[in-house]
Amino acid sequence: MKIMVVGGGGREHAIIKKLAKSPQVDKIYALPGNGGIAADAECVNIGAKDIDAIVAFAIENKIDFAVVAPDDPLVLGAVDALEDKGIPCFGPRKNAAIIEGSKIFSKNLMKKYGIPTAAYEVFTEMDAALEYLKDAPIPTVIKADGLALGKGVVIAMTRDEATDAVRSMMADKMFGESGSRIVIEEFLTGPEVSVLSFTDGKVVIPMVSSMDHKRAKDNDEGLNTGGMGTIAPNPYYTEAIAERCMKEIFLPTVNAMNAEGRRFCGCLYFGLMLTPDGPRVIEYNCRFGDPETQVVLPLLESDLFEIMKACSNGTLADTEVKFSDGAACCVIMASDGYPQKYASGFEITVDADCEAEVYVAGAKLSDGKLLSAGGRVLGVTATAPDLRAAIDKAYANVPKVNFENAYYRRDIGQRALKAYSEN
Ligand code: AMP
Ligand code: GLY
Repeated sequence: MKIMVVGGGGREHAIIKKLAKSPQVDKIYALPGNGGIAADAECVNIGAKDIDAIVAFAIENKIDFAVVAPDDPLVLGAVDALEDKGIPCFGPRKNAAIIEGSKIFSKNLMKKYGIPTAAYEVFTEMDAALEYLKDAPIPTVIKADGLALGKGVVIAMTRDEATDAVRSMMADKMFGESGSRIVIEEFLTGPEVSVLSFTDGKVVIPMVSSMDHKRAKDNDEGLNTGGMGTIAPNPYYTEAIAERCMKEIFLPTVNAMNAEGRRFCGCLYFGLMLTPDGPRVIEYNCRFGDPETQVVLPLLESDLFEIMKACSNGTLADTEVKFSDGAACCVIMASDGYPQKYASGFEITVDADCEAEVYVAGAKLSDGKLLSAGGRVLGVTATAPDLRAAIDKAYANVPKVNFENAYYRRDIGQRALKAYSEN
């Protein structure tokens, strides 16, 4: 089988490494991939949003199966374009990817079908939003409607911050057209859990739960980033909570999408907050999370290709999806200065005795050398029978991955360990 994976980050590297283990997979292309992915797949210089070129490549190279990993091409309709040419895909069609593509759509869906989420108001006019904020409860949360590279959310701790956020989204177009419509929602508190799930639109099979670490600095300080590390499983996500989420959130969401004529196939990501009043949906993503994938897939014992095929052809109920009962920790090594200004172009080397998986996110090949090329450069993932051992192993291997200007958090997983000791 010839497989094509659209995307080029650490998440795609983890997907590709897992797909390569399937006996059915003979050849993997990555569009565009990156300098590190080039060790595991043939990289093709086609951008993930260039849908016409992606489809043309797939036809020309007789691709048997496509995996569309990032949000942009999914929301733009890459799966529709490929399926319409007879190429089976893992990933939702455009009319289902809207669950991530529009926060207003997803909030209205949850309201209509009684899926627990933060209370909210939608605004299309700035004056109305500013008027509402005059006596809205503070803190409050302002969200741009559309995709904004994961940055379209402002937690406003004061009324001034809230009005500034509304102005910068709606008047200054800080996130372009994504912010011309906004959601203002209730501020919730509680531990956060990421649950990625496989679904064929009929059954939904949650993967092992995980915890992201979004802030740049230790102790959850510093700016929000695309994710500085992850652990799995998430200790806050107990069996009782998992059961409740299946009944109150996961199945109702898949059923709601079907009722709307928007069957969702692929990876549906539930960003949850475990509030004192129960689990609430913070966000849906129409794809694997990054860097959640880098801890979830290493724990998958079943054949990823079989599962992806089953999501695409509606046979997920008959397919084995088994995770190990061990744990994983991924430490992101970034360029110092990320998510603001940073230097790159430094050679990356991995010592021969490195015992962790290295998933490359931002790197390019130049004269046979791998050079850093991005804010988040790579993730170092270790698996072990328990979380403490996984964390220790990940951090023992980080010094074996070398590049100038590397920066990483020292406390990935510490909050989770504390949660275990408190339970
Ligand atoms: P997102 O970029 O959508 O992943 O959101 C970024 C972060 O904002 C989430 O991971 C939460 O920590 C936080 N957040 C989003 N919505 C809320 C909310 N209603 N209450 C409190 N925190 C929130
Ligand atoms: N780690 C969060 C995301 O992928 O959106």
